[in-house]
Parts: sequence; structure tokens; C-alpha cells
Amino acid sequence: MLATTLRSAPGRASALLVGTAVAAGLCACAPQAPDTGTVDRVLLSPTADPSTVQTVTWRVSGAEESFLEIEPEDGSGQATRLQGRPTGGGEADSTFAATATGLEPDTAYRYRIGEGGEEGGEEDGDGGEDGLSDWYGFTTAAEGNEPFSFLYFGDVQDDIADEAAPVIRAALEAEPGARLALHSGDLVDSAGDDSQWDAWFDAFGPLATGGMNHLAVPGNHDYGSEGLSEHWAPQFPGAGNGPEEPEGLARTVYHTDYQGVRFVALDSNHRDAAPHSADRWLDTQRRWLEQVLADNPHQWTVVTFHHPVFSSNPERDGDTLRRAWLPVLEEYDVDLVLQGHDHSYSRGNLTEHRTRDPDVQTGPVYVVAVTGPKMYEAAEDDWTDHGAEVRVQRTGVQTFQTVSVDHDTMVYRADTAQGESVDSFTIVKEGDGKRVIDGH
Ligand SMILES: [Fe+2]
Ligand SMILES: [Fe+2]
Repeated sequence: MLATTLRSAPGRASALLVGTAVAAGLCACAPQAPDTGTVDRVLLSPTADPSTVQTVTWRVSGAEESFLEIEPEDGSGQATRLQGRPTGGGEADSTFAATATGLEPDTAYRYRIGEGGEEGGEEDGDGGEDGLSDWYGFTTAAEGNEPFSFLYFGDVQDDIADEAAPVIRAALEAEPGARLALHSGDLVDSAGDDSQWDAWFDAFGPLATGGMNHLAVPGNHDYGSEGLSEHWAPQFPGAGNGPEEPEGLARTVYHTDYQGVRFVALDSNHRDAAPHSADRWLDTQRRWLEQVLADNPHQWTVVTFHHPVFSSNPERDGDTLRRAWLPVLEEYDVDLVLQGHDHSYSRGNLTEHRTRDPDVQTGPVYVVAVTGPKMYEAAEDDWTDHGAEVRVQRTGVQTFQTVSVDHDTMVYRADTAQGESVDSFTIVKEGDGKRVIDGH
């Protein structure tokens, strides 16, 4: 269990350590028993405009009130305290969220969590303050198309501490400056199992959950028999700009814009749409997606959801989602469609986007990946039977994905924790067109 004891107050060091600690695979998080006044599960959630607005979520044991204190890391501005909005929990653990607004773009901030009302926290004579957590740090998005990188994780889900965590750590070491992590669902296996969420947060470590934005969509395992896990909304509140009807979608469907990329999160769990119909669930998102893509002022578009439109599992068929969403993804030429659920690795495209060069195609790239150790067989039938082709398909490989965006070029890599390159391609935008080039 990751925890920061409010009274430990180590001063400014931890925010400054974010890059190097992650790069070194370190985790400033010695396991300790939860205690009153213990802060953990600190996480950044993307907002509609992460250049000036940032949401932070966290948990405090035994606290009815808690606040966020945030200030520019270079000390150039005043600290702001925001009262945390209670988002759940009981007497033992309470979860909170706060959204800082009016931030400066492309600026390093540090923040910490306090127990009690906004007036809490007192100098302890040691350079720290009683009642306040360690410092965390992040940098707001730049306003323009500045280069940046993000990570993409398929299902983490199973045996997280022993088998999935090494892949996550390898990703953080490979791309210590990543600004965003994208999670395509099934983050845990049993959505209501608190210990699995402990393992998930442990796998990333507090400097990574609290140091970059986490854009997550739920998978079927993040839904339980009574609907979306009660852990979901407090931890992944979304950007609040999704469809308002039917009720429920606003929690899991949203978009965020980061330095020239529009990221769109969809909820593919139409089997969990009750009391709404699956058709309404999918149609609402299709219409909303069309609007979000039609109004997109950015050069790049990345869409993520859990269930693939082309299934790689020989016993599955992506027909329902394919009919609902594929035409829109194609019409607006979404660059990356990042999915999960099939527990293998596949990357492909519609055959109509082939070019005369066998290593070059156009159009959207569809990917399925898996982070954790659970594996299924992989087959091409659902792709090839429906107008698509597989460029890379593997089973038995746990991968992490790094994506670097630099103006008109996007470089994608899928690697194992052992250093094997499983897939790579480069997308180059040229005028109104683009080329997707295998390898890099
Ligand atoms: Fe899964
Ligand atoms: Fe799944």
C-alpha cells in the first residue's frame, strides 16, 4: 500500500525527485499500514484544458475534510488552497477531488494534500508542516503543439504486483518524461476488490500517479454486478465534457486536448448499459464522437475504449462496436484507436488504406495490447473477414507502448519489459494526407 503520512513533511525534495526517481525505477513509497492522516492514491486526471486546469484526486484515512495546496514550483506565485470535494469512502478512508483553475500553461507546479479545512497545516519548525503530505509535481500542458510523449497500457488486470508491475516500471523508465498515461480498461480483475487497486497504485508508484495525467476508460472487469465500480469515479472522474444522457456516460466518456492531440475516451461496455439499451448507449456516443471529431482544431486524434472493433480472440466478434463506431473513426481519420480486452497484441488497418509500398498505409491504426500476464490465443479472422488486415499480431507478450508526438510526426513503439521490440511505426502528416510507415 502506498502512503504518505501527513506528518512526515519531508519538504520540497519529492517534487524535484519525480523525474529521476521514476527514471531509476524508484518508488518513494515504503509499504506501511494505513493510519489516521495517511494520504495515498494521489492521481492526476485530465480536464478539458490541461494547460490551465488540473484535477487531483486522493484518499485520506480518517479525515472528514482535506484540501489541496498548489503553487508554481519555482516559488514565483502564491500557494492556493482548494477544499477537497468528498467523493466517497467511509470513516476509515475518505476520497476527495479538487480542480485547480487559472494555472499557467507549460509551467511546473508542486502540490500537497492537507488534512482538515483549508486553514490546516502548521509549521513544524523543521522546514515542513504538520498535517501536510509530501510534495508532488507536474507540468501543465503547453498551449501550442509542443513535442511530448505519452504511454498506453492494455489490460493490467491480473497478478498485478508480480507480473504486471515490471512492465509498468519498464514503461516509466523508458519514458520518464511522459506527460500522460492512457489506460484502455480492465485495470484490475475484480472492480470491488480494494487490495487490487492497492496493487495497481503500487505498480505505478505515487510519483507517477501524481506526476502525470491518467486517462482511463473502464473495461468489463471495472464493472461489477451492480454497475461501474464504486472505485471508478473517485479515482477517474473524467473531464466532465461527455454526453449528459443517458445517465452514467458522463462519468466515463470525455475528451482532453494535450499539445496538439485530442484524446477521446469512450465507454464500450454496452452490455452494462442497463437500465438503458445497448443501442442507445452506443448511438449516443457515436453522435457525440462525431461532434467532437468534427470540431477538433488539433492535428492529431487518439481514441481509446476497451472492446476492440476487430477482435483478435478467435472466440470473439467485434461486430456490435464495429457497426456502431468504425464508420466514424474512419470518416474522421482518427490516427490511433487504442483498445484492450483481447489479451494479446495486434495492430492493423482497413485494407482499403494499403498503398503500393507494402510498408506504408494510410487511415486509422487499430491496436490491441495487454500489460498483465493473462493471455488468449490470437487470430486474424475477425479482421480479415471484415475488410481489415493485421500488420503485427502476437500472443504471449506483455507490452507497454510509448508514443512520441513532434509536430507532424508521431512515433509509436510497443516493447516488452525485457527490451524486445514487438511493434513500431511512424505516422507522418503531409498537407491533407498522411502516411503510416511500418518500423521507424
Ligand atoms: Fe481483460
Ligand atoms: Fe475486458
